[in-house]
Amino acid sequence: MAGNGRGACHHGVVRALVTGGAGFIGSNIVDRLLRDGYDVAVLDDLSSGRIENLPADIELFRGEVSDADLVAKAVAGCEVVFHQAAHRAVLRSVEQPLATNNANVTGTLTVLTAARDAGVRRFVGASSSSVYGGADIRPTPETATLLPRSPYAVSKLTGEHYGRVFWELFGFETVNLRYFNVYGPRQRPDSQYAAVIPLFIDALRTGVDPEIHGDGKQSRDFSFIDDVVEANICAAIAPAPDCAGKAYNVAGGRAYDLLELLDMLAGHLGVTYTPRFAPSRAGDVRYTLADISAADHDLGFRASVAFVEGLRRTVAWFR
Ligand SMILES: NC(=O)c1ccc[n+]([C@@H]2O[C@H](COP(=O)([O-])OP(=O)(O)OC[C@H]3O[C@@H](n4cnc5c(N)ncnc54)[C@H](O)[C@@H]3O)[C@@H](O)[C@H]2O)c1
Repeated sequence: MAGNGRGACHHGVVRALVTGGAGFIGSNIVDRLLRDGYDVAVLDDLSSGRIENLPADIELFRGEVSDADLVAKAVAGCEVVFHQAAHRAVLRSVEQPLATNNANVTGTLTVLTAARDAGVRRFVGASSSSVYGGADIRPTPETATLLPRSPYAVSKLTGEHYGRVFWELFGFETVNLRYFNVYGPRQRPDSQYAAVIPLFIDALRTGVDPEIHGDGKQSRDFSFIDDVVEANICAAIAPAPDCAGKAYNVAGGRAYDLLELLDMLAGHLGVTYTPRFAPSRAGDVRYTLADISAADHDLGFRASVAFVEGLRRTVAWFR
């Protein structure tokens, strides 16, 4: 996506903080902001992120989002905060709920408080489709029942509520984005908590039979990273009366099941495979499919990268 100069305004360059900026989504936001002319700082503890994802000369505050002193230094002079830092994995939160709560709930509250106190104009938070807990309305609108089914999902919904409350109580502009299964370059396959697309690509490339939890008919609405980055930019600049205090679905708006996904990836890679079926995992939902009309209406955001194209670019990056 070409830079559009949004980062520059009449009183100079806009400073932005990206928490979790060394991670998959955060580092892609950093790249886009730099291209658009923003002055960018990153706060990251490098627990799952990588220093190699960042330009060598980036201003990096190394530490935790629950460290109020460090966060206060990092938000100083910023106009926008893109809050991506979190413990991302559902399974990890089932095993270590307190650690997830500290990073995701205390961390988010710490960033919100410091950003408000520093006079930041807009906070854009990373929420998750997991807040729905497997809604029975599909496509799922933001107004559907929220029933988080894992400590991770509880932490993400709590972050959304804090965002809304900071707008209602303090007039601090917050927008949360409910990402649906993000994929693309820089997403890591090398963790026990890795997401399905990098895991499948890694297995297919190395000749390992891919492992499917359940029957493979579970389906997901996948979001390509460039679209997620664009949604963040839209959420940073949309008029506050339209969007402050709210949370929006960010997704492609189409669902694919895991067997279809494997076929598409194998096609891109030119390989054959035999799936191995394993038991379903605790806390996983069966289907996700987003209603994406609210983000279009309020933020002016619409996903533009088709799944087949996003997969092609992701496979190309792995090569
Ligand atoms: N990837 C997805 O499909 C997806 C879906 C829904 C929501 N999200 C949310 O998007 C955000 C980014 O996720 P990602 O996929 O890029 O994951 P990631 O693990 O690649 O990025 C998270 C980054 O935050 C850093 N971090 C973690 N805990 C921290 C802490 N306590 N203090 C400071 N830094 C910390 C990590 O080192 C890493 O760089 C997260 O908030 C996640 O919950 C992701």
